[in-house]
Amino acid sequence: MDWKFLKTLRFEELNLDKEDQDILNSLANRLQDNYPYHSQLYAGQMIKPPHPLAQAAQWMASFVNPNNHALDGGRATSGLELEVVAELGQLMGYKQALGHLTSGGTMANLEALWISRKIDSNTTVLANELAHYTHSRMTEVLGIPFKSMPADVVGRMDLPELKRVLTELKSQGKHATIVATLGTTGTGSIDPLEDIIILAKQFDARVHVDAAYGGYFKLAELEAYSKSHFQAIQHADSIVIDPHKHGLQPYGCGAVLFKDPSVGRFYKHDSPYTYFTSTDLHLGEITLECSRSGAAAAGVWATMQKFPLVPQGLFAERLNHSLRAAIGLHRLALDFGYHSLPPALDICVFSTPGVKASLLSAQNRDFFERKASEGIHLALLKLKPEQCPWSIEWDVEELVVLRSVLMKPEHNDPDFWKAILS
Ligand SMILES: Cc1ncc(COP(=O)(O)O)c(C=O)c1O
Repeated sequence: MDWKFLKTLRFEELNLDKEDQDILNSLANRLQDNYPYHSQLYAGQMIKPPHPLAQAAQWMASFVNPNNHALDGGRATSGLELEVVAELGQLMGYKQALGHLTSGGTMANLEALWISRKIDSNTTVLANELAHYTHSRMTEVLGIPFKSMPADVVGRMDLPELKRVLTELKSQGKHATIVATLGTTGTGSIDPLEDIIILAKQFDARVHVDAAYGGYFKLAELEAYSKSHFQAIQHADSIVIDPHKHGLQPYGCGAVLFKDPSVGRFYKHDSPYTYFTSTDLHLGEITLECSRSGAAAAGVWATMQKFPLVPQGLFAERLNHSLRAAIGLHRLALDFGYHSLPPALDICVFSTPGVKASLLSAQNRDFFERKASEGIHLALLKLKPEQCPWSIEWDVEELVVLRSVLMKPEHNDPDFWKAILS
């Protein structure tokens, strides 16, 4: 599939004149220069096509152009956002979450860490070395100390090391905010949250869960290890989950949730320009961003009407297909004699056969190019020796491997896995 359909869109209803239509035609031409994200054959980066219902809902709301900063600018969509946040909170096991949508996972994580610092200015952020880079960057923005925690060979935060660092911080009179990633960006690994929560209690630490990518998998049929750590999310102090990753939304939609609604007090500010139409909560009173798309809330709300967040529902089944796709590709890769990491979620990381890291890296890069020329789009990832359980001769510092994010239900297809690997 390509992007030609964009050229056939009809704009008469918008009263666009001939000049506007010509501009849109040239835009449609420019947009041809993209990978075919909607196709089954795109299984590279963490990019999932939005559902047409979400697109239509956003488009419809865009005629109103609501701003969810204040009820003054987006009454209806602020109401939709509160409903959506309540449902995301319920999914995570929070009884009464405070939260809101954001422009994405970076902003949502920034807010969670900002609240951590507001609660305790003496906190140090600890995150898995495989956590998204946003955590080290945003702690820099916030001026909070950051410590990268080693991962074990399957990409999970190393618990004995975490305990050692917590003990050290305690002896220095400092506290910690532990960022647990449920679904790392590179390999989809799941930090041992259940154990992290226990340690956090012992050391009076705060726990933030970055489930920007993995969060919706709480609904899916996970294996025992993942299931227990996803169940523990309800005990975390804050959570990030991105509707624009697995939630079928167009870009521009993350979410941050707080277990304790009283953290709203830290956002307290007044504005001489807004908040005068109603004494009800204006979402701008509990967000760092000011203007924010109300259309994004409309998109998530409409999508949740069709795909309620319930186990065994339509939406959960789509996620189950993705999990099966990753396992299926992994098993077939092993049958083909490839190296492959057991997937935790829907990311499969593998390498063509061989031993020497430099040769394997070159071979994997060639494989990536060859597949692209066949129209199959994968991604590349660099692994360090300690992140790689395969018997490899390490003549270079990093190994370039193949990475496939199987986010679409249609990726659950043995013929497709065969096409990837052959
Ligand atoms: C685990 C995780 N956290 C945070 C982010 C950053 O989110 P965004 O790109 O929406 O800002 C990502 C992006 O892939 C992610 O995978």
